[in-house]
Amino acid sequence: MSTLIKSLAGLGLGAALTLTAGTAMAEGSGCGTFTNAEGVDEHLACSTAPIDFTNKGSLQNGAKIFMNYCAGCHSAKYVRHSRIAQDLEIPPELVEKYLMVTTDQIGDHITAEIDPEVQASWFGAAPPDLSLETRLRGDDWVYTYLLSFYEDPSRPWGANNLVLANAAMPHVLHNMQEELSQEEFESEVGDLVNFMAWMGEPARHDRQVIGFFVILFLLVLLIPVYLLNKEFWKDVK
Ligand code: HEC
Repeated sequence: MSTLIKSLAGLGLGAALTLTAGTAMAEGSGCGTFTNAEGVDEHLACSTAPIDFTNKGSLQNGAKIFMNYCAGCHSAKYVRHSRIAQDLEIPPELVEKYLMVTTDQIGDHITAEIDPEVQASWFGAAPPDLSLETRLRGDDWVYTYLLSFYEDPSRPWGANNLVLANAAMPHVLHNMQEELSQEEFESEVGDLVNFMAWMGEPARHDRQVIGFFVILFLLVLLIPVYLLNKEFWKDVK
């Protein structure tokens, strides 16, 4: 048995397991606390974002929402429009026509329509670049944040947020939320966060598929290696 454990550790599985445990711990920290109507502090659990990179329809819809509702204020400076066309399987003509709001060169990165410096003076905080936002905060945090705006007349833009108290960002999806049922709204925001997760790591799906086969290959390789090990040591006692 100890040989088996040693072999597993040698194969880097130990490292993989530790990494998974680390990620789970980071996500377990929740989505902040808020004070409820009775004045008691409540812990807000994160909702799970529906991330699925194989669902091209969801990613395409997410790209559409991002470019129409977010790129006015937020940049995504590590993402090129051409990469969206390529990875999300959208014909470049359609990207040029519908998804390029801040440039006319498809090779350009996504820049904010309004200079973030100028916006800082309007909102009190500059809208951060969103290329790596899901990597920074986690998919579920971003998803919960976007679903947690509520009306608050005391705020300059009439809205506040449960996850990020006194957020400087207005509730930009307010009209969408009004027009759709809660379920439909969550599905739209889910598509948006799916797209943002793709922006954060476009190769994530490929990496996971390749990773699965690498681990599978190593597990299969373990059988002959284990038998060989037994064979080598059988006379040495
Ligand atoms: C009117 C300008 C504006 C628009 C449009 C806008 N935002 Fe923001 N956003 C901001 C500002 C300003 C902040 C900074 C908030 C703060 O720090 O309190 C922000 C913050 C954020 C944050 C939190 C960043 C962090 O880690 O603290 C996320 C996530 C975010 N925006 C996502 C979006 C998404 C997704 C959209 C499109 C649906 C969007 N925003 C549209 C202005 C905007």
